Amino acid sequence: MTDKGSNNRNTFTGSIGFVLAAAGSAVGLGNIWRFPYLAARDGGGLFLVIYLILLLTFGSTLVITEISIGRKTRQSPLTAYAQLSRKWKPIGLFSCIVPMLILPYYCVIGGWVLKYFLVFVSGGGSTTASDGYFSSFISGVSSPIVMALIYLALTIFVVISGVQKGIENFSKIIMPLLIVLIIVIVGFSLNISYTDEAGNVRTGMQGLKVLLVPDLSNVTLTSLLTTAMDAMGQLFYSLSVAMGILIAYGSYMPDNVSIRRSVSQIEVFDTGIAFLAGMMIIPAVYVFMGREGMEASGPGLMFISLPMVFNRMGTVGYIIGCLFFALVLFAALTSSVSILEAIVSSFMDRFAIDRKKATVIEGIIAAALEILVCLGYNVLYFEYTLPNGATAQILDIMDYISNNLLMPLISIFTCILIGWVLKPAVVIDEVTKNGEKFRGRGLYTVMLKFIAPLLLMILLLKAVNIL
Ligand code: PFF
Repeated sequence: MTDKGSNNRNTFTGSIGFVLAAAGSAVGLGNIWRFPYLAARDGGGLFLVIYLILLLTFGSTLVITEISIGRKTRQSPLTAYAQLSRKWKPIGLFSCIVPMLILPYYCVIGGWVLKYFLVFVSGGGSTTASDGYFSSFISGVSSPIVMALIYLALTIFVVISGVQKGIENFSKIIMPLLIVLIIVIVGFSLNISYTDEAGNVRTGMQGLKVLLVPDLSNVTLTSLLTTAMDAMGQLFYSLSVAMGILIAYGSYMPDNVSIRRSVSQIEVFDTGIAFLAGMMIIPAVYVFMGREGMEASGPGLMFISLPMVFNRMGTVGYIIGCLFFALVLFAALTSSVSILEAIVSSFMDRFAIDRKKATVIEGIIAAALEILVCLGYNVLYFEYTLPNGATAQILDIMDYISNNLLMPLISIFTCILIGWVLKPAVVIDEVTKNGEKFRGRGLYTVMLKFIAPLLLMILLLKAVNIL
């Protein structure tokens, strides 16, 4: 089968290939550096329960819809919407702009992970725990750029090899490895203990309680709403919706594969890994840094707090550090591969060019933007305050525009298009066309038409600080 243009589409070989690739996309930095932090901060088990309820209702609705759009149209995100309805073509354009904005900065962060992995593997892990290591690394000009370019080259290598030979085979190797790595680190994390200067003994099991036991002591209506908003924002990002990815991957899904079952498996994978990441990180941070250590998330957690934790573990910390950064690298790579594929499939379908050409063109655009993002920490440094109050550099601005503004908008319009203009039957027919039952179709319809757009609107208004 040739791999060019829209009709002679390559497909995944079957259900396992599709699910592992989509789960690989979903499992990314968000699972590791944000989910554990939110869960510990927002009342442990309470956050988990709210997250699960939202996952099975709101999350499933959006994922089923995007995969069905892809499989029904057999088109890329850029071209699928126009095929559904000519007037709705601009949503396709935005579904291609979003991954083009995300890829460069995701690769810059991927480059940071690669750097830490290499430092740990070459035995220099303790240096990463020294004061100011991370900020001096990112404010250096050449090293972050070189790392980001190598990371991008790895991503390109997988995508250029094609849907089956590249993405599917890569996911089939990396995802099982990722599970093994995370289980090994969780086992270690739960069995550690540490006596601090004041003589207090803290154990991994106590840390686990922070993650699992619902903290109902300070629950108010406002705190419940905050928890629900946090869970929803996290879920939205974690499932890789509104990034064009699920439409692209859906367009490669064989007709005989069950959409409903695949979506459940992707959700189990994504949430399972996020939960295991919590069991890996929260006990370790709690043991070595106490409750204050848990206040960090994002890059601060991954590149500053955790290296300190590994350092306090002594020699074994360097081994755990190597395993940890290998794990993060794998999780990030399967996500950046998916986001590049969303763009490459768009270029292939829109301009009728082959995979190699499309990948090289986007590779050049992404490399240029990556350099710009890296220079944002030194030569082009400036501080800007975002509407949500956060101080931002170029990376944060790109992240804010894509995640907080464009992604909720794309999803709102997708719900309106399918729920009201074309009617949910479009998706229901696609799901059931191979004889499969669509359990919960009533709930799906209500979610798609009313509740999901409303929740997305709240997410959007919160992002622009109106709520
Ligand atoms: N679910 C992914 C994550 O948690 O990192 C979201 C994602 C981000 C997917 C960036 C792909 C990507 F390039």
